[in-house]
Amino acid sequence: MAKTKPGAPPPSALNIPKETLSPGLLHGERIPDEEKRDHALRPHSLKEFLGQAAMKENLTVFIKAARSRQESLDHLFLIGPPGLGKTTLAQVIAHELETEIVQTSAPALDKPKDLVGILTNLKERNVFFIDEIHRLKPAIEEMLYIAMEDYEMDWVIGQGPGARTLRIPIKPFTLIGATTKAGNVGSPLVSRFGIPCRFSFYEKADMEAIVRRSAGILETKIDDTAASLLAASARGTPRVANRLLRRMRDFAQVSGAPSITRPVVEDALMRLEIDHLGLEKQDREILAMIIKRYNGGPVGAETLAISMGEGVDTLEDYYEPYLIQAGLLQRTPRGRMATALAYEHLKIPGGIVQGNENSGLLF
Ligand SMILES: Nc1ncnc2c1ncn2[C@@H]1O[C@H](COP(=O)(O)OP(=O)(O)OP(=O)(O)O)[C@@H](O)[C@H]1O
Ligand SMILES: [Mg+2]
Repeated sequence: MAKTKPGAPPPSALNIPKETLSPGLLHGERIPDEEKRDHALRPHSLKEFLGQAAMKENLTVFIKAARSRQESLDHLFLIGPPGLGKTTLAQVIAHELETEIVQTSAPALDKPKDLVGILTNLKERNVFFIDEIHRLKPAIEEMLYIAMEDYEMDWVIGQGPGARTLRIPIKPFTLIGATTKAGNVGSPLVSRFGIPCRFSFYEKADMEAIVRRSAGILETKIDDTAASLLAASARGTPRVANRLLRRMRDFAQVSGAPSITRPVVEDALMRLEIDHLGLEKQDREILAMIIKRYNGGPVGAETLAISMGEGVDTLEDYYEPYLIQAGLLQRTPRGRMATALAYEHLKIPGGIVQGNENSGLLF
């Protein structure tokens, strides 16, 4: 297949839908409808949940112990960038505990009665999953941490001098809170989670295993070298790997290839403007902006987000974690800075401060 330069439009002969090629679609962000389509790819048991070995090993012990004591599992706090498997893990845990899971997200818990309604309906040892837990309102957060600790809630009836507080008992349950922003969760709530689980970007071998598993479920053939390249280009993020795999399947199908081969992946990555580090166009533009407009930084997140025409949340949740872990960006108290590696990656000349080479920072 003919290769095109990054940025060049794909040949029209391939007739690939435009949305297939939009780089923004590849980010870890959730896309409506995709969750439904993704259902088949979602692991159901701990055995199917690949990677995150240390976390999984500990969880296996805690789940086994809780089950043998016939007690509810301690509350879990899942922290990590989008698409790494927080929601998946919550569902896996409920499955392993052989119990039901009730799922909501913090913005949906608008009034105290929303929380009371859910908690009073939980059965013993159920899992209650709250996504985006950093977005809870303070009044709800307070009710929740009392419920987590004492398995009861205070419910105020009436107003003024005639108001009465009713103590409502709740069955022992397991709260699983997930967040991309652990720093925004109040410490009284954080301290009530007995099991903190911090997700890291997936190792290459785990990403390969995820790609192969998903290809098997999608009944798509993929060569070993193709799986390896795809895995290396998916930002250490299972959601991105699954998304890329679907796109590769499109490219293979449209070009008439019987399976996803390495040339198919190479060609598709070029069309999608994903480079060998897994960076997309927007990642490179962020780095280029810091280097060219802000002289390498430091630049505040808000200023940077405005310059990029992005929301601060998108910048902080979706772009930065991977750039930081790839060693291309540093968060400092004074703002974001491009590292020496970023200059090198973008092929922009710059000087490292003498005697401070290890910091990787340029001034
Ligand atoms: N450990 C894993 N093994 C295999 N597949 C995984 C794993 N973790 C996640 N996935 C796949 O990646 C997809 C995205 O995962 P998930 O929705 O759980 O991420 P998340 O951390 O909850 O993201 P968000 O912060 O956007 O809610 C899942 O649908 C699943 O198919
Ligand atoms: Mg989720």
